[in-house]
Amino acid sequence: MRSVAQRQHLASGQDSDVFIRSDGLLVKRTRTGRDMRSEARMMTYLSGCGIPVPRVHEVTADELVMQYVPGPRMSEEIGRKPWLAGCLGRELADLHHRLDVVPAPDFLSGEGHLLHLDLHPGNVVLGPEGPVVLDWASATKGDRRLDVALSWVSLAVARLAPVRKLTRWRFLRSFMANVDPKAVDAIPEAARIRLQRHDRDPAERAALEKLMDRESH
Ligand SMILES: Nc1ncnc2c1ncn2[C@@H]1O[C@H](COP(=O)(O)OP(=O)(O)O)[C@@H](O)[C@H]1O
Ligand SMILES: [Mg+2]
Repeated sequence: MRSVAQRQHLASGQDSDVFIRSDGLLVKRTRTGRDMRSEARMMTYLSGCGIPVPRVHEVTADELVMQYVPGPRMSEEIGRKPWLAGCLGRELADLHHRLDVVPAPDFLSGEGHLLHLDLHPGNVVLGPEGPVVLDWASATKGDRRLDVALSWVSLAVARLAPVRKLTRWRFLRSFMANVDPKAVDAIPEAARIRLQRHDRDPAERAALEKLMDRESH
């Protein structure tokens, strides 16, 4: 039985609100009316392939109930322990390598390999058993290098305090040293996808447009 009173607000992302239920499970509720069942289906498929994702408990069109994974997000860990930036960059690269070998499921339309399309450090929880990948709402098929480029772009354009910029650079340098170097060629396309996805603030728009311009040079 669903009880709105017995849930505590945990987070609100771009498209959803997240709550913890009194039984310890996490509820992700869409604000955009997108059908949560496709995200749940994707996560169940990935669990079966050995990819670390929260376990799905139940789902309706507007709510997905899943395992709550305790731990800091990778983005928080980078902020709190900047000396780990290089190590965490490699860890994000490793997650991409794990996705490289997952067959794209038939229920996804399109052609190519499986892409998360939003695999940035804010969508990775460093749980007790290792990193867990969240937020499969954008999963699609395509070129794996585009997925890597999107990880790079989402962090590269984020606005940070100057003191954080050196840490970001160390994270990204380590990340890129451990992925397919050809992913760089997909950066303009990744910037285009990110620009289309949500409302961006003017500074981020400008940074993304600059990355798209790389194509013409
Ligand atoms: N299973 C989970 N375990 C722990 N935290 C979670 C879990 N799912 C979501 N969260 C938290 O909620 C936030 C938003 O969830 P996310 O799936 O990324 O939604 P959005 O699409 O709105 O970004 C995450 O950044 C994370 O902090
Ligand atoms: Mg998210």
